[in-house]
Amino acid sequence: MEGLLTDLEVIRKDFPILERELADGHRLVYLDSANTSQKPQVVIDTMVDHLEHHNANIARAMHQLGAESTQAFEAARDKVAGFLNAPSRDEVIFTKNASEALNLVARTFPLGPGDRVVITEMEHHSNIVPWQLATERTGAELRWFGLTDDGRLDLSNIDELLTPQTKVVALTWVSNMLGTINPVAEIARRAHEVGAVVVLDASQAAPQLPIDVQAVDADFLAFTGHKVTGPTGIGVLWGRTELLDALPPFLGGGEMIATVSMEKSTWAPIPHKFEAGTPPIVEAVGLGAAIDYISHIGLDNIHAHEQAITGYLLDGLASVSGVKVLGPLDPAARGGAVAFELDGVHPHDVAQLLDSRGIAVRAGHHCAKPAHKRFGVQSSTRASSYLYTTPAEIDALIDGLEHTKNYFKVG
Ligand SMILES: Cc1ncc(COP(=O)(O)O)c(C=O)c1O
Repeated sequence: MEGLLTDLEVIRKDFPILERELADGHRLVYLDSANTSQKPQVVIDTMVDHLEHHNANIARAMHQLGAESTQAFEAARDKVAGFLNAPSRDEVIFTKNASEALNLVARTFPLGPGDRVVITEMEHHSNIVPWQLATERTGAELRWFGLTDDGRLDLSNIDELLTPQTKVVALTWVSNMLGTINPVAEIARRAHEVGAVVVLDASQAAPQLPIDVQAVDADFLAFTGHKVTGPTGIGVLWGRTELLDALPPFLGGGEMIATVSMEKSTWAPIPHKFEAGTPPIVEAVGLGAAIDYISHIGLDNIHAHEQAITGYLLDGLASVSGVKVLGPLDPAARGGAVAFELDGVHPHDVAQLLDSRGIAVRAGHHCAKPAHKRFGVQSSTRASSYLYTTPAEIDALIDGLEHTKNYFKVG
């Protein structure tokens, strides 16, 4: 199959969990990577090595371990900056996940009555709720791009939505439910014409597309470590220096200050202004190892693999009568997450039957309730691949769906 990673079997050996045997002797078929990716041994080993040999708090320790730990943490920041092609390492802020990164911007960005924030109907709740809170708090207006019937952004009213009133355009690069890859550079260009800043949620893009914040001309970009083969507990907010400099702090505490008196405090320069308290040190170190790992495989190669597997998955799903895919049917227009309905069977039942065969998928609203509502469904089943997914695993899923249909006597 064209586009597949050529050393797939070697890559799979990097992920110990893929050897896992589940109940009834089934080998794990992990198709829930859009939820969280599995971790290669090198990420696990790097974190264990840090804890075994270098563990100390950063920045504040006057000893060798403290220096080593600080060096490892800051090296992870350099890796993230390189991964995003950020102009400066100081623009990389570590958070606990993408949700916190998006909340940081929504909580601190100056808005007021008469201002407008534009989001989209395909956002994850993490890029909806913070903007609802921000607009309610400040009196700004919240508007959104709707969706076309094939699950793309409906940009037909872009001139009406993007006006000089619009201060923020916040959107996902790749949808976690519809899989759609959005034309973010084009939207950024239009947003900048009216003077708005662009906040990109790259939570699903960072694992599978080369990210270049300068090429897409983003102003802020968020992603989460656990979807790029890194650990949980670490996320990233990247922002342009001049914007980050102008924002007030998000959280107060140790390490984010320049001076503190009983009356008032002043702030440390970025990135530290936004990193109050002890950060997720070993998690950042693990994220650095994850970025090295996926960069070594190559994001272009991972993207090609995801497209090949997704094309194969879409073909397989098309062969099962009663399956309706949500989102674009063209694999070139989407990432490696495919949500679908199986006529007559509740998604939870689909997931449970698949689980009984060792196949892990997600069922529910995938934190994208408005997108489900747009397509008239409460929930769906989602199969999502990653760089370790094989065509044989997709075959197992398709067999599992036929089995599910027989079990429930549908179709
Ligand atoms: C598109 C998108 N945005 C944001 C998030 C939130 O990520 P986290 O839960 O790590 O903050 C997710 C995770 O599912 C996602 O898929």
